[in-house]
Amino acid sequence: MFKKSVYSFVTAMVVAGVGSSVFAAAEASHFTRPANVPFPADNAMAKERIELGKLLFFDVRLSKSEQISCATCHDPKKGWSDGLPKAVGHEGRMGPRNTPTILNGAYQQTQFWDGRAATLEEQALGPIQADVEMNMPLDELIVKLNGIPGYVKLFAKAYPGEGVTKESLAKAIASFERTVVSSNAPFDRFIKGDKKAISENAKKGFELFKGKGGCTNCHDGFNFTDGSFHNIGLDDGDVGRYKVKSKEIFYGATKTPTLRDVTKSSPYFHNGSAETLEEASTVCSSGGKNPQARNVSTALKKADLTREEIGYLADFMKTLESPAMKLDIPTKFPK
Ligand code: HEC
Ligand code: HEC
Repeated sequence: MFKKSVYSFVTAMVVAGVGSSVFAAAEASHFTRPANVPFPADNAMAKERIELGKLLFFDVRLSKSEQISCATCHDPKKGWSDGLPKAVGHEGRMGPRNTPTILNGAYQQTQFWDGRAATLEEQALGPIQADVEMNMPLDELIVKLNGIPGYVKLFAKAYPGEGVTKESLAKAIASFERTVVSSNAPFDRFIKGDKKAISENAKKGFELFKGKGGCTNCHDGFNFTDGSFHNIGLDDGDVGRYKVKSKEIFYGATKTPTLRDVTKSSPYFHNGSAETLEEASTVCSSGGKNPQARNVSTALKKADLTREEIGYLADFMKTLESPAMKLDIPTKFPK
């Protein structure tokens, strides 16, 4: 994939009069998902691992109540989220934050709104134990899984010699999650040259997104995120990344979310406070929800967009919706 600097360099060449086809190719590459999903060396891709991880992801027996699976909150039919402002887990307890999609998680440098986990493997064990999510002590779960012969066999095939452990459990779930990636959206066909793939209004939206709206300051690249943390002035007392790294620049800052399939995962923001793409875009283009709040990002433009322009931005983001991935949701689980 083109590095941002190379892309900017090519942009500069176009301004200087060098061929626009070079630019088109660079831009297409900049916004196209790399075909290869990065798998870590100590958890290489294998069909057995992905299949096992899928079973675990959908298996309610991973929770204390045996009523909640990862998919309860990360539901493939709801854009791998739950449609709720804030997540609801064990015994109906409401968590402090909105459930993000897991789409394209494989490409993220950090996990969670505040980036407190570095990898999908590290992330996976968090929700199992969290009392507002699955509320299941890990040691108890490992004993339980070791008592299910069907799982013991599948773990032996997927991770020979490792047994059913916290580590192999996390690795299997992460392997499945790495298969949850965005596919070809109308925008992808457009950026590769099919000018009819998106509407004229969506094209205006894309120009605003890159230009006047300043959105690519943060939502950049194929996944429309810089992987970094910014405070957009939601000012709700959530300190965000600051809890992980107590530097002032991280105060109230959360990870820039992907905009791939964003149509499927309303409501928006870490606190679920925006219902629509228009509302979210208005916050992001007006210097923040509360521009006076502590440490609001200076990368946030006060673009004073008209209602019409906000509409074009929404039209553009709708073109990032890709067809649902082919997935046989498990209905039978190992015994
Ligand atoms: C009760 C709802 C709930 C359940 C159950 C749940 N999650 Fe989550 N998930 C969340 C919420 C809420 C967050 C964001 C929390 C935060 O950032 O502090 C999250 C974050 C994540 C992320 C990070 C996404 C990102 O872009 O940063 C991943 C990956 C993830 N969950 C995977 C899982 C897996 C795997 C399971 C099962 C083992 C699971 N979740 C179970 C609600 C849930
Ligand atoms: C300074 C960086 C920055 C800029 C510039 C920016 N955003 Fe965001 N955007 C974020 C962050 C960070 C979030 C998540 C904030 C949170 O929930 O705490 C976000 C959230 C969103 C969401 C909600 C996504 C979700 O899944 O919750 C949408 C939609 C969005 N932005 C669109 C835009 C548009 C359109 C623009 C340009 C007008 C824009 N953003 C400009 C950083 C930025």
